Amino acid sequence: MSEIAKLELDGNSYELPIIEGTENEKGIDISKLRGGTGGYITLDPGFKNTGSTKSAITFLDGEKGILRYRGYPIEQLADKASFLEVSYLLIEGELPTQQQLTEFKESITKHTLVHEDMKQFFEAYPAKAHPMGVVASMVCSLSTFYPESLDPNRGEVAVDLTIHRLIAKLPTLAAWSHKNAMRHPFMYPKNDLGYCENFLHMMFAMPTENNTVDPVVVSALNKLLILHADHEQNCSTSTVRVVGSSHANLYASISAGISALWGPLHGGANQAVIEMLQQIYNDGGDVDKWVAKAKDKNDPFRLMGFGHRVYKNFDPRATIIKKSCDDVLAKLGVNDPMLEIAKKLEKVALEDDYFKSRNLYPNVDFYSGIIYKAIGIPTEMFTVMFVLGRLPGWIAQWKEMRENNEPIGRPRQIYTGENARDYVNIANR
Ligand code: SDX
Repeated sequence: MSEIAKLELDGNSYELPIIEGTENEKGIDISKLRGGTGGYITLDPGFKNTGSTKSAITFLDGEKGILRYRGYPIEQLADKASFLEVSYLLIEGELPTQQQLTEFKESITKHTLVHEDMKQFFEAYPAKAHPMGVVASMVCSLSTFYPESLDPNRGEVAVDLTIHRLIAKLPTLAAWSHKNAMRHPFMYPKNDLGYCENFLHMMFAMPTENNTVDPVVVSALNKLLILHADHEQNCSTSTVRVVGSSHANLYASISAGISALWGPLHGGANQAVIEMLQQIYNDGGDVDKWVAKAKDKNDPFRLMGFGHRVYKNFDPRATIIKKSCDDVLAKLGVNDPMLEIAKKLEKVALEDDYFKSRNLYPNVDFYSGIIYKAIGIPTEMFTVMFVLGRLPGWIAQWKEMRENNEPIGRPRQIYTGENARDYVNIANR
């Protein structure tokens, strides 16, 4: 393989270094392009062809449908690991020993409580407040209670404490955003419960009842959180990296990532999928009609949960979630007509040239909402579930960016506005 790329510009020839990753991905390093060519930059709206960094955290191959966290296939992790184990793997780079996992769990457990003063913030939100707006604000507000978190260069001990606090408190903040919307009493975390079980307890338990959590639901949630834990340089992760590159604190960086994930083209798609399936169901279930609408350029309707910037074959997470759908609904005795509509929609779309020619396949969001619905998560909380899953990935990416001392993210542009002109007094306009 050539080590350089040659560029011919204005009669001059330039050599650009080629870099290759451990999975043979190749990139042209343009970090010296502008200075070396007298001002040329590249232009790539949406960064479809542009790498922002080198990373050792997650590898995915869109053509082969491969997803690995720190080299471990997602299929094995989803089947065998716990979410906290995968969180440790993403953040620290290796699977934890039993001792390391025990210490990690103990540290997380002792930080699950949220400062009592934060309860007043919840009470200020209207019942109809979307929980993503609440959770994004609450995560950023953590920085006001823990001033030692404000300096990301404060050293490993302070950074690790900030990380553990965030992993520990996010489920509490998420569950309380739901309880606040229901105007139900907050349920406090219990130290004798596991991470997923504790969240489900805080979400659904009531102080007046003897509350238990179904192990089938705990297992389903553990798998879903693992499947969402990281996905290399997606929109929200890139947001976390850019915000963190200004040396903003971790809480502010993650809060920005939560806001980016909210969009219906990104993590908000899981809520949009269920709303779409419900719309098709209410309309009589005519799947062909809605597939035609998705293909019609004059119709704004898109098949939510379909298509992906990277996966041009199948999203391995969707394959695992689809199988888990049947399993969880059967174990819970849930018969959801949305699942049948989703399967019909998938079948019709995958046989249609419009989708096949554009490599549009179900993504992680297409089936996840059906499981969330089956385990009792309200639709508006679906994207908050994505936040819970993606948190360790965001943290790992933020930590890698900081440890590599990456420069502040500041893209260039091609200006297309007015050329220089003089101010005109208002009387003469
Ligand atoms: C996530 O990046 C990640 O890794 C994200 C994620 C993660 O784990 O972080 O995987 C999570 O965000 C999954 C994606 C969830 N979003 C949706 O399901 C929303 C529906 N899908 C799309 O809007 C779209 O497919 C995107 C946003 C996911 C990808 O968009 P791209 O790569 O910018 O592709 P595009 O919009 O340019 O589409 C290419 C063509 C277009 O048609 P033409 O202009 O070529 O004629 O495909 C069409 C699009 O109109 N198209 C769709 C479609 N998705 C793309 N047509 C109908 N329905 C769709 N869902």
